Amino acid sequence: MAYQFPKNFTWGVSTASHQIEGNTVNDWSEWEQQNAKRLAEEAPKAFGKTSPVWNEVKTDATNPANYISGVGDDSYNRIEEDIALLKELGVKAYRFSIEWSRIEPEKGKFDEVAIKHYVDFIGRLRQENIQPWVTTVHRTIPQWVAKQGGWANKDTVIDYGEYVKVLASHFQDHVQHWLPLNEPILNVGGGFFSGQIPPGRKNPIAGIKALRNMIQAHRLAHQIIHHIIPEAQVGVAHAAIYAEGHKNRWVNCLLVSLLHYVANWIFLDRVKNHLDFIGIQYYTRGVIGFGFARTFIPFVKTYPQSGPHSDMGQEIYSEGLYNFAKLVHRRYHKPIVVTENGVADRNDTHRANVIRSHIAQVARALQDGIDMRGYFHWSLLDNFEWDKGYWPRFGLVHVNRTTLQRTLRPSAEKYKEIIRQNR
Ligand code: BGC
Repeated sequence: MAYQFPKNFTWGVSTASHQIEGNTVNDWSEWEQQNAKRLAEEAPKAFGKTSPVWNEVKTDATNPANYISGVGDDSYNRIEEDIALLKELGVKAYRFSIEWSRIEPEKGKFDEVAIKHYVDFIGRLRQENIQPWVTTVHRTIPQWVAKQGGWANKDTVIDYGEYVKVLASHFQDHVQHWLPLNEPILNVGGGFFSGQIPPGRKNPIAGIKALRNMIQAHRLAHQIIHHIIPEAQVGVAHAAIYAEGHKNRWVNCLLVSLLHYVANWIFLDRVKNHLDFIGIQYYTRGVIGFGFARTFIPFVKTYPQSGPHSDMGQEIYSEGLYNFAKLVHRRYHKPIVVTENGVADRNDTHRANVIRSHIAQVARALQDGIDMRGYFHWSLLDNFEWDKGYWPRFGLVHVNRTTLQRTLRPSAEKYKEIIRQNR
């Protein structure tokens, strides 16, 4: 049965600076240079068996050039092209991130030209009646911040506060919705525990410091933004780490509770008094149990499921979005926005269904009295997928890697129609 969404429900799409702008110089661009060869060599082992499209992507995935962000989608220079796409989709909001390394390439030196670039961009969105939702840090940090230890150093919190002040004071008349940090828990887990992403450390002590500092950073940003823009809505873009117990055995469910606590509630509990809404980013679930595994948590075994999987081998499981939203609602009683949901799907085989089925779960949550305020699809464009490079394709819009030409995928029509009808 079709469900009519509330009139003020926010439909949007999300992107991030490093993944689309092109020619960013930050901790990631440096890390890519150092790791591209290794990532290309490791790809067959990482995705050869799990990616349903391995045969189609293996040439790219084993090529080191795939792992260099480089020109991106050249979105920094193609503002009008991207805005035309947003208009075509009919979205009410666009979530994007500001590249800190452009705004403050050296400590304390703020670049007026870069600031003006974003001010103008936001102005253009406003003219087109598209709400800008601003992420201030989506994974990447300037190289000078990385050199001082990144998030593991307390000074980074102070520097970050100065940066946020600059953004809030320049954008105050035009930006109401703010997401200071994107997926802090993945930043900390990947950067300081598993070492999979920059700074590539395996140092739990530094990891705990980084977590503490990111908690402080969020609180500080909330305070600064509200001081400058009293009516602002400040949330966090939280990675929904969602699991279910294998065969529903009680020991496995206990493990799930433990995992949910560590991966979700530790951070959210500590920032809950500094949140006007909670952004959840949901892609998949894990079915887990006690057992031996060669992962960085050696006693947690993941059980593969049948059914459709993304090109990256992630299970497509829409009910998880509802279940996770319910957990968040029960624990915090705050408005919830799905700030990311999407699928790596180069042939557009599953995307229309992913859109429909996940939005249906948002509707279900609303009908159960959960205060769902919006849905943002990841992503507007095919983009640089971090340590996987360019082969996974998340875009509603296909981007040709040679010409950078943008073409709407058929599934985008599905999303367009849902937005148009608001149902
Ligand atoms: C991140 C995005 C990423 C997406 C798809 C999220 O965890 O915020 O930057 O591209 O997932 O994997």
